[in-house]
Amino acid sequence: MTARRARAVAHPNIALVKYWGNANSELRIPSNGSISLTLDGLETDTLVVFRADLANDEVLVDEQRTSASTEARVGRVLDHVRGMAGIEAFARVESRNSFPSGAGLASSASAFAALAAAATAAAGLALEPEELSRVARLGSGSACRSIWGGYVEWLAGSDHAGSYSLQIAPAEHWDLRDVVAVMSRQAKAVGSSEGHDRARSSPLQPPRVADAPRRLAICRRAILARDFEALAAVVEQDSDLMHEVMATSSPPLNYSLPSTTALRQAVPAWRAEGLPVAYTQDAGPNLHLLCLPEAVGVVIERVRTFDGVVDTLHARPGGPPRQIEIPNRG
Ligand code: PMV
Repeated sequence: MTARRARAVAHPNIALVKYWGNANSELRIPSNGSISLTLDGLETDTLVVFRADLANDEVLVDEQRTSASTEARVGRVLDHVRGMAGIEAFARVESRNSFPSGAGLASSASAFAALAAAATAAAGLALEPEELSRVARLGSGSACRSIWGGYVEWLAGSDHAGSYSLQIAPAEHWDLRDVVAVMSRQAKAVGSSEGHDRARSSPLQPPRVADAPRRLAICRRAILARDFEALAAVVEQDSDLMHEVMATSSPPLNYSLPSTTALRQAVPAWRAEGLPVAYTQDAGPNLHLLCLPEAVGVVIERVRTFDGVVDTLHARPGGPPRQIEIPNRG
């Protein structure tokens, strides 16, 4: 029997309105909708081969065996794909990240978007992006948004069919840049799956979730109008709200280093001086500085010399996952 194989590349994304907390952790149905920007330059490249001779799924990330929990998440996506395609064979998955390994950047979004794209193609399925986003979501919530390029909204929904992503605008719509201030290369102590579970213990999570439609509407409008000031205000507020939920969860979560807090405090002052830059922070100590192209040079210079910053990365708006041709072995 010929092996069914496919290879796909996908990009990570940075959330402008964050996903934090699940209404259904099994299906990763989020408590609130979210909006993100897909990032170019950084990518995960994943090969999936369904083989009749395998006794179980095999998963390699950067040529290493992964943790049992990552294997289980990959298995969840593969089981779903097998069910959709009506196949039983196990798969070998080989995944590689192009971004500096251990840069402390979330790789689960690009990883599960690439896995969903490669696994469905290998299984002979040709899915619309909406359907592909549901498959990616089963592995990692934020991966649901990496199925599209540019500016993307994940509609929370309340069941598997209703929770998927849509494109608000393509990458070419607005040349927003993300300068990442890398503060630490260490893996985080508490992963986001655990963090999502803890969110429900914070008294600030219900008001954060209840207010999400307002923030989403402002963010959507700011993107469509390319209104940087409006975007900056909502992005910083949304990031702060998520970190306040983390700080008031039981037990509390704090992803910031002293340098993260210092830079977070400096950025609004830079904006008040006229520099078009805004911060946002995910579940880690690195700070993402969103800025307009004309500010990139100054932002990189200031960030590089900022105490505690160990590296900087610069990303442009990126595209959707793409298939990579696999040469025929003959
Ligand atoms: O997709 P996950 O489970 O890694 O969660 C991502 C959570 C944040 O990055 C903090 C926010 C987001 O919306 O991406």
